[in-house]
Amino acid sequence: MSTLTVIMSPPDHFAIEYSINPWMNTENKVHPEHARREWEALKATYERFGASVALISPVQGLPDLVFTTDHGKFLRGKFYAARFRYKERQKEQDVVLPWYRAHGYEVIEPPANLYMEGGDIQVNSDKIFVGYGYRTGEETVSYLAKETGMEAIPLHLVDDTFYHLDTCFLPLGDAAFYYPTAFNPESIKKLRTHFTTLIPLTSAEAERFAGNSVELDEYVLCQPNPSFEQKLIDLGKTPMTLEMHEFNKSGGGLHCLSQIMT
Ligand code: ARG
Repeated sequence: MSTLTVIMSPPDHFAIEYSINPWMNTENKVHPEHARREWEALKATYERFGASVALISPVQGLPDLVFTTDHGKFLRGKFYAARFRYKERQKEQDVVLPWYRAHGYEVIEPPANLYMEGGDIQVNSDKIFVGYGYRTGEETVSYLAKETGMEAIPLHLVDDTFYHLDTCFLPLGDAAFYYPTAFNPESIKKLRTHFTTLIPLTSAEAERFAGNSVELDEYVLCQPNPSFEQKLIDLGKTPMTLEMHEFNKSGGGLHCLSQIMT
């Protein structure tokens, strides 16, 4: 794990200032110290695994900048930049893309009129799974396949509570967890062809952001969630739990806070 780099952004200005998903209620105040503690615990966990954590400086007026996974996706060593659906988050790219360039990464900007958010893109066994419907557009599937030469599989998201693929889908090699009502039937059929073990999440598990877990070696970082933890153990994984309650208020969890460089 010593080569792992995770890009994060401290929660100094994290707040619920607008609502662009059903989790976000502007009356629901973020507790700044709790948010800071949860975020620091996640960062410390990566560092304990030998990862190097690089930080994008927080910016006032960009409360969702903390969700670094959404800014783009590393594919074949290049950073494919996102284009956010909502103007509230589009401004983040003015800060983020210069940061990636300044740190020596090759940044590929998306073509005009294409929406793509990193939270909708998951890579497993050299295949790209693309969630579309709420944030990312279906056209992104062929764009990524063409650009990278990788197989790209479209998955149609149909439940706005699970608006990003990383809120309802967790691939772990030959097995994957998914929340059935978040996908249309066609997409579930497709998932069956790509995984030997496909494990449904209950609504209680999904609402605790089980889909937003992160695999690190034989460990899976996840929010405390006893039934899901048991499912991980049954799969031969070791759950390591971290509470992310403050970030859940924004519709995010620990995967959203982590841009993992591959
Ligand atoms: N409030 C943020 C938004 O709605 C949360 C993003 C969470 N990111 C994720 N990959 N699920 O855009």
